[in-house]
Parts: sequence; C-alpha cells; structure tokens
Amino acid sequence: MPLEINVALTPRLLTSAEALTTSIVLVIDVFRATTTIAQALENGAKEIFPVGTLAEAESKARELRGRLGEKMVMLCGERGGTKPEGFDIGNSPLEYTPERIEGKTLVFSTTNGTQAIQTVQSAPLVLAASFANLRAVVNFVVKYLVLNEARAKERSGGALAEISEISTINTIYCVCAGGNGDFSYEDTLCAGAIAEALVRELTEGDYDITCSDATTAARNLHRAEPNPSQALAQSHHARYLADIGFAEDVVFSAKPNTSRMIPLLRSDGAFIHWHNPLNL
Ligand code: MLT
Repeated sequence: MPLEINVALTPRLLTSAEALTTSIVLVIDVFRATTTIAQALENGAKEIFPVGTLAEAESKARELRGRLGEKMVMLCGERGGTKPEGFDIGNSPLEYTPERIEGKTLVFSTTNGTQAIQTVQSAPLVLAASFANLRAVVNFVVKYLVLNEARAKERSGGALAEISEISTINTIYCVCAGGNGDFSYEDTLCAGAIAEALVRELTEGDYDITCSDATTAARNLHRAEPNPSQALAQSHHARYLADIGFAEDVVFSAKPNTSRMIPLLRSDGAFIHWHNPLNL
C-alpha cells in the first residue's frame, strides 16, 4: 500500500485543502495548545471546542452555556501566552486539574494552535498530537490504518463497524502550528519523532512509505536531538514562556508519553478522547 508521510512545517505550507480529504491529520503545537488538549482530556474534560478568534470563543461559550448550563462550560486559552480578560483558564496544561475541568465542556482559543486546527477541518480524521501523547497517537494511527484497510478489503462490518471508515488514505500529514506563521523548533522536533515512529512501524506492515523533504528534515532533526527535554529548552517559544513565568510548562510539555489520550476531532468540531471498543 503506498502511503506518504508529509510534514507541513507551518499551516501555510499545506499543499492543498483537497489533499486533506484522503489524509489523516495530526496537528502539533507542543507549546502548548495540543499538549494542553491532551492534558485536559486526561483530567476529565468532556469535550474541547477549538475556535479561532476571542470573539468566536465568547460567542461559542454563550451558545453552549445556553444549552448546557452556565457552570458546565469554561472559556479557555491565551493571547501572548497569558489568559485573556474574562476567560476562566489560560493555556498552561498544569491549570487543567480534575477539580477544575472534570465533566466540563471547554471552548479553547489560542494564538497559533487552534488556528492551525481550523485550517485542517476538511480532513476526515484530525488528531491533536504532542510529545505528551506521542505513543498513544502513533499506536492509534497504525492500528487505524490496518483496520481501515482490512475493512475496505473485506467490508466485514461486525466489530470493525465501530471504526469510521475512510475508504482511501494516501497521506498522513503532521501539521506544525509554528509561531505567528513561522517555523518552530519544538513542533518540528515532535513531527520528526512521530514520523520516525510511523515509518518504522508501518514499513513492518505492508506499507510502501514515501517521505516529503520536510519529513526527512524533521526526522533528521529528531535523530540529532533524541532527548526532547534538552532540545526544547533551546527554542524561542520555550525561552519566551520561561520569561513570562511558565518555565514549568516547558518541562511538562517536553516529557514524552505522559498521556494516553487520543484527542479526535468530532464532526461537530469538538475534540473528544477516542474511547475505542477495540482497545486500540
Ligand atoms: C499557541 O497556540 O500559540 C500557543 O499554544 C501559545 C502558548 O500559549 O504557549
């Protein structure tokens, strides 16, 4: 089976929206949106609606509060790294404790991460990825592809019917949120680590993998910097977060595999944890 692994070093470098219709998309914003999404779901958030502007966030929160009740919806996110006025929670993954968010619906707007998510919404399968849930996401993608292919071959139904089918997947896109339109070191390193694991595990199966040049660059960067904790501290955004008082978030976000969450974008635009009956 031919399969391309493609890294978009910034959302602008996505080749076309059309290419997404046969792709699995992993959005990566290590500092901090996708790390925070995994952590919020890990600690019991019911669902997370990523939105673009602050005004959209306020309006979405109003609409959801009307339906779900005032206390069940929290307005979350950042601008310039800090909590916008009137918001309930900022963008530090450490703020998303079970006491604050368990069972809650979150509306989430950040400078780059949620904007990147907006650009890939036409893809049939969108996941939020980071170092925190790298292994969980890679395992899910590998098993999903195998089951999807088996299902396409056999049209078997039964247990496999639990998995929504995308009939042809020819690309896995790792979309790096970057910073204000620019390349970011931390997202590229994470994309490289994910691509490396996918290439290794999928070539053991029946896949004939090709990598774009951006993917090769990201994989080589990951091989040169196998320890994310040390590597990430060098990034511009890590230094910025430390300067504004979020040094602990840098340490937390660089730790691989602290979360088992598979944040999957549901058709209504909310991330939920993929509770799968097949134990993927
Ligand atoms: C973003 O989306 O740009 C961020 O997650 C920035 C941050 O809060 O560190």
